[in-house]
Amino acid sequence: MKLKQKIIALNVSTLFIMLIALGTIITAITDNYNLQTVLRYLESQGDYAAVYIEQYSINKAPNFFEVPNVMRTNANFLSAVLKETAKCRVQIFYGSERLGDSDPDIGTDIAIRPEIKEAFDNNRAYFIKEGKSRVFYYAVPVSIGDKFLYSVGFIYPLTEADNMKANTINMFLITGLLSALLVTLGSTFISNKMTDPIKSLNEATKRFSKGDLECRSAANTRDEVGELSSTFNAMADNIQDQISKLNYEKEKQKYFFDNFTHEIRTPLTTIIGYAELLWKTDDSEVRDKSLFYITSEGKRMLKMMERLLELSKLKNYSFEVHRASTDLKKLIEDVCESLQYKAKRYNTAFRLDLQHVTHSIDPDLVKQLIINVIDNSIKYSKSSVIDIVLKKQKTVELVIRDYGCGIDAKNLENIFDPYYKVDKSRNSQIEGWGLGLSIAKEIVEKHNGSIRIESAVDKGTSVIVTL
Ligand SMILES: Nc1ncnc2c1ncn2[C@@H]1O[C@H](COP(=O)(O)OP(=O)(O)O)[C@@H](O)[C@H]1O
Ligand SMILES: [Mg+2]
Repeated sequence: MKLKQKIIALNVSTLFIMLIALGTIITAITDNYNLQTVLRYLESQGDYAAVYIEQYSINKAPNFFEVPNVMRTNANFLSAVLKETAKCRVQIFYGSERLGDSDPDIGTDIAIRPEIKEAFDNNRAYFIKEGKSRVFYYAVPVSIGDKFLYSVGFIYPLTEADNMKANTINMFLITGLLSALLVTLGSTFISNKMTDPIKSLNEATKRFSKGDLECRSAANTRDEVGELSSTFNAMADNIQDQISKLNYEKEKQKYFFDNFTHEIRTPLTTIIGYAELLWKTDDSEVRDKSLFYITSEGKRMLKMMERLLELSKLKNYSFEVHRASTDLKKLIEDVCESLQYKAKRYNTAFRLDLQHVTHSIDPDLVKQLIINVIDNSIKYSKSSVIDIVLKKQKTVELVIRDYGCGIDAKNLENIFDPYYKVDKSRNSQIEGWGLGLSIAKEIVEKHNGSIRIESAVDKGTSVIVTL
């Protein structure tokens, strides 16, 4: 059974149980009240009848011993008179013998009725004939001069009480049916309100599980379902995020391998080309040229492999940084000293503004990092001056700024990816594989620092390292 049907069934059955209980109780109470009223009425009629019959028989009889005769001859008359006041059939008995009756006998009466027996024992008594149309039988003893004992029986049909009972039951039936209809409508409405958000959430979950990652639940009620719905949405956001991250990583990996094969293919093709030439030629000049290229390309490949190995080592979680308190100013000056010659070749010069800073770092790694960044400014920027600023506030900040060609925003996004080069054709003559900044970033992160690049085309580039 669906939740909605359960709610409706529960409401309707609760209503029915309540109505049946209430109906039974109310019918019983009103019917009992009606019977009591009839009983009280017949009691008063009985009192009156007893007095009336005694007075009448004593007045009519010439002497006391004539009373039974008077009674025998006048019983029918007395019954008729008493019927006028009691508004019901009246009978007069002597023992079990019926002396008088206000109505003609239709032969349905029980010969000796229990209440008449009781009355002849000088007790008032009644009994109710049950059935579709109930009848109230009531009897009172009538004692004349303490000598002669008669009894008067009243036969009172309970038509009114029966009607009232039937009406009450009908009323409850009609009310029951009407309210069942209303409750069904009402609970359909309410259960729709309750189950619609669940349906919507269910729908979203199904679609999501089938791979529609964009799908979210629209249920926003302020209850447990609404809460569940927003938890689901948060979970979906998270999963979608994770999946796009994974896809991004996959793309990066593919990019890495594509570039790696590309980078390795170029020198290998050159080497194989010249090696094949060696087989064919006897010309010593060609041989020397071939050997030169084979050697230099081989060395270039080895260098690239070493760079890659370096990056791979840095990426390893178990790689350890050997920190030592280091004079950073001195370290930078040494780097600049070693790059002096290369800078001259590219027509650029360093301008140093270095504070005295001693910091706990791995000197070899940080040296490598600084070389990578300054080397880029020398090779790529075509700037006539490179500013190198070192200062310590809360953190140690090193800025390497050039005023050259700059990097556009699109390239800046991926600049730290391995093998990423801004303009492959432009830089083809310049030695480089796009690994320098990836290595720099790994080194900074191993020191729990950060590196960022601000750059504008034709204005220059600033690399900011915080340690
Ligand atoms: N200061 C700079 N000015 C202009 N371009 C730069 C600068 N630094 C880096 N780049 C660009 O970023 C690319 C990536 O640098 P890097 O990771 O060091 O690789 P590589 O130096 O091996 O080419 C370079 O190919 C270059 O095009
Ligand atoms: Mg570089």
